[in-house]
Order: sequence, then C-alpha cells, then structure tokens
Amino acid sequence: MRDSVIFVAGARPNFVKIAPILRACESAPFDRILVHTGQHYDHAMSGVFFEQLGIPAPDVHLEVGSGTHGAQTGRIMAAFEEYLLRDKRRPRWIVVVGDVNSTMACALVGSKLCLPVAHVEAGLRSFDRAMPEEINRVVTDAISNLLLVSEPAGLTNLANEGIASDRVRYVGNVMIDSLVEQLPAARALRMHERFGLHAGDYAVVTLHRPSNVDDPARLAELVQLLRRIASEVQTVFPMHPRTSARFRDLGLLSGLQGVRVIEPLGYREFLGLIADSSVVVTDSGGIQEETTYLGVPCVTLRTTTERPVTCTAGTNVLVGEDLDAAWAAIQRSLTLRERRPCAIEGWDGRASSRVVTTLTERA
Ligand code: UD1
Repeated sequence: MRDSVIFVAGARPNFVKIAPILRACESAPFDRILVHTGQHYDHAMSGVFFEQLGIPAPDVHLEVGSGTHGAQTGRIMAAFEEYLLRDKRRPRWIVVVGDVNSTMACALVGSKLCLPVAHVEAGLRSFDRAMPEEINRVVTDAISNLLLVSEPAGLTNLANEGIASDRVRYVGNVMIDSLVEQLPAARALRMHERFGLHAGDYAVVTLHRPSNVDDPARLAELVQLLRRIASEVQTVFPMHPRTSARFRDLGLLSGLQGVRVIEPLGYREFLGLIADSSVVVTDSGGIQEETTYLGVPCVTLRTTTERPVTCTAGTNVLVGEDLDAAWAAIQRSLTLRERRPCAIEGWDGRASSRVVTTLTERA
C-alpha cells in the first residue's frame, strides 16, 4: 500500500497555503488526504477559496465551527483524534500550516499519537503572547518534527529556542506560490473598475485582530482614522465577519461614512483589488507578505509583526497604536506612489515543491 500524508486546513489563511502544496503533491510518491477542520465554514471564508484555488474536496470534514478558543481547539482535537484512531493507516506525515487554532490543535493530536508532524511557516514570532496566533506558533513548533521556514527570521527564532537544526529547513513562502499563480487572473478581473475606482488611486482596509476590533475605544478611534483616509482617497473595506459583528454590536457602522464597506472577497478578487491599490491598511499577517511581494505600500495597525522581513526588505510599516503615525505613513504612501518590488529568498512561486521534496526525502 502507498504511503499517505495528511494535510490539515481550517481557516481562510490556511487555504491559500495548502492549495499550492496539494498541487505540488500530484506526482509525489504518496497519497494526500485533506482534512478540513471547519474552523471557517461560510462560502465567503472557505468555499470560494476551494473553488478559486482548485483545492480538491476535503477527504475528511470535521465541521467544528466557531467558538471560544478553548472550545474550538478542544473540538478540533477531539474530532481529529477520533478520525486518526478510526483510520488505521499510519500517515507518513501530518502537515499543518500557519498559526490558527486548527494548526496547533492537529499538531498536538498528531504528536501525542506519536505521528510525525511537519509545520509549514514555522519559526515566525511576534513575541506578543497576547496574540492567540503566537501561542499557536510556539506550541506547534515545540512539538513538530519538521519545521519548514518561510522567512529568514524564522531560522533565527528557532535556533534561539534551542531547536536542533536538523529539524529545520528553509523552504520559502508557499503563500507567494498562490499569489504568483493567481495574479494574472486576479488582474484580469479589473476589480478597480468593478468598484468605480482608478487604478493606483485608492486604499484598501482590512481589520480583524482582537487587539483592534474587540476593544470599543480602539475601534472607535479606528473609525476616525478610516474616515480621515476616506476624505483623502477612495477607500474600500472588505469586512471580516468578526469585525462586522463588532461594528454592529457597537453601533459604529454609521460612523464609516465615505468608506465603501463590502462583504469579504474571494481570493482572486481581493488580490486583484490590492494589486492595483495605492496603499493597504491592515492588521493581517498574510497581507503584509502579499503587499511586499507586489511592491504595494502596507501600513500595519499593530505593534509587532511576526514577519519582520516585510519591514526590512519589503513595503511594510508598523505603526503600532499610534494613529497619527498611521496617518503619516498613509499620507507618505499616497504622496510617493512608489512600487518597490522585492527579492526575498524563497518567495519565488516554488516553495511548495521544496515542501513536497522535503516531505518525500524525510520519511
Ligand atoms: C482566525 C485566525 C486568525 C486568522 C483569521 C483569518 C485563530 C486563533 N485565528 O481568526 O489567525 O488571521 O482566522 O480570517 O485561529 N465566522 C463566520 N464565518 C466563518 C468563520 C468565522 O461568521 O466562516 C465568525 C464567527 O462569528 C466567529 C468569528 O468569525 O466567531 C471568528 O472566527 P474564528 O475562526 O474563531 O477566528 P478569526 O477571528 O476568523
């Protein structure tokens, strides 16, 4: 019987990373089994990514849904363990990607069953334990057998944590593989025209981190910033469901006059929109990387980043909680209108094939 490798995906940023890896597996000497935990379940947060990125239907769907961190992580663990115990076949690897609850939950289950776990996008650290993703990263890396690193800081962080170098391999950024593949189709959508915008002359905003959207005072300040941006340049805000819920609960939506608030976009639509924008204002992790690759200025509304190469070699500026600094950085981007293409090792559209080669060699 052929070996099998289990690939876990659960939330929106996972799908973008798992798609190119699954494709790179097509000629690999093992069967691929895709497990969808169901952490994200809406068409807008999950289904559209499967369609656009050509991800095959999951072989296993755990259907865990939303919940508090403990409840969601616990449900994923129980359901994934049940699946592994039922399916008697011992996988050659369990591959988890990124830093969401599904990543950590499945890594824990695999490692407790003494199955080899590989973590794609290992070594990233914001050094901010108030971020749920940081806990997920630290735990996942501590217990994974193979750590596949996406940016130079990852190697330093893992070495500083005393992780033996034979567990670590630099493969580059699999998310950039999806971007490289989808960019022509994304640009062909001419998203700016769909929203009546001029290419190179609009801002895109995304916000969903608890540090920005869960605190009513902070969110109210951000509303002021968004209005200020919209007074200067046309502004589109595809809104994450947790952010919509907060805006609704706090009655803040009416404060966003002038800002074009829309539903979350599909992968291609979002990529097309940011590719032709003049500045992106965000608190996402992945968008810092996508804008760096595209050379589009990115203003990140966070105090830390786990992706420092986007600041040192890319277009990203961290402005912390200081909204005047945010405004200054946004104005600078709008005035300079620079495009700075980047060259970061392994951000070349071929990271997934290096992942699959490593999985094949290290059985
Ligand atoms: C999760 C990840 C975060 C990632 C983000 C991208 C963790 C700890 N966080 O945060 O790293 O950047 O996904 O989106 O894993 N909801 C829906 N439909 C869905 C999914 C969620 O309406 O398909 C709503 C629910 O009300 C839910 C809320 O969004 O309670 C939060 O979803 P959850 O997956 O728990 O965390 P995110 O904030 O999306």
